[in-house]
Amino acid sequence: MKIPGIVVSMMVLIVSISVVNLVHAGETDTRKEIRAAKSKPTIRGGIVYKNYCVLCHGERGDGMARATKLYGQGNLVIKARDDDYYQQIIRYGGSSVGLSRYMPAWEEELSEEQINDVIDYISIVNDPVERGRVVFMTSCILCHGVKANGKGRASVMYDPRPADLTRSDKNDSYKKMIITMGGEAMGRSKVMPQWGLQLKEQEIDDVIEYLRTILVKPLK
Ligand code: HEC
Ligand code: HEC
Repeated sequence: MKIPGIVVSMMVLIVSISVVNLVHAGETDTRKEIRAAKSKPTIRGGIVYKNYCVLCHGERGDGMARATKLYGQGNLVIKARDDDYYQQIIRYGGSSVGLSRYMPAWEEELSEEQINDVIDYISIVNDPVERGRVVFMTSCILCHGVKANGKGRASVMYDPRPADLTRSDKNDSYKKMIITMGGEAMGRSKVMPQWGLQLKEQEIDDVIEYLRTILVKPLK
């Protein structure tokens, strides 16, 4: 039986597309991995916290924040409490539990999901590594990958490739510099962004704490 040339070339095309896809999937994060990493309530809650709570309660939930002086630092510490208490004070405000009315009621401003997510986040807000994980999953995985192995979805577009951060041989102060000032300022690729423009120093310190915990071993 003779197979027409057009059919052969289509088959070749289909096979090569699937091979490319396979190689691709093995190399970079899958959409599923990214969705899973980004959809964790804690990660989403971190974004809510940053937008609505950080001003008064501070990056670490310790009440060291810009608005601290207005309300008195002691009161602004987020302490470990049960979920019912968090639900009450966050939905209906400080006065609903006999505390300061300067703690706003959020039920009108935040969705059901956002309230639950931010409660998840405040349970880890005083843990630097967990805060750093949130920073990493929100800002770094596109290039460095969910597993920080340098194989994020965008990694294939760049040469040099984003670093495998599980095997970095750089110390914390080098990491702080390159994260804050970007690759170009350090004589490296300008693709590595200047995060000092977008992240607070605390967030950069936190992400470095997180990177410590995922270190497998340095290459050298
Ligand atoms: C305008 C400032 C302000 C903002 C913004 C704010 N809070 Fe508060 N919050 C307060 C004040 C003031 C208190 C302390 C009340 C007191 O001690 O009398 C408080 C108390 C709390 C407490 C109780 C602490 C404890 O252990 O008793 C929680 C939990 C809390 N806030 C969560 C949040 C969350 C979550 C957000 C963001 C969605 C947020 N707050 C935004 C001012 C603020
Ligand atoms: C747009 C892509 C991109 C994003 C997003 C990105 N990076 Fe990078 N990063 C790179 C590239 C590319 C390099 C390698 C630069 C080189 O080798 O010249 C790099 C290098 C680094 C290094 C140096 C590691 C070493 O061992 O030398 C650190 C640390 C780092 N990135 C941390 C981060 C952190 C933390 C974030 C998130 C806050 C982040 N990067 C987000 C592209 C990115």
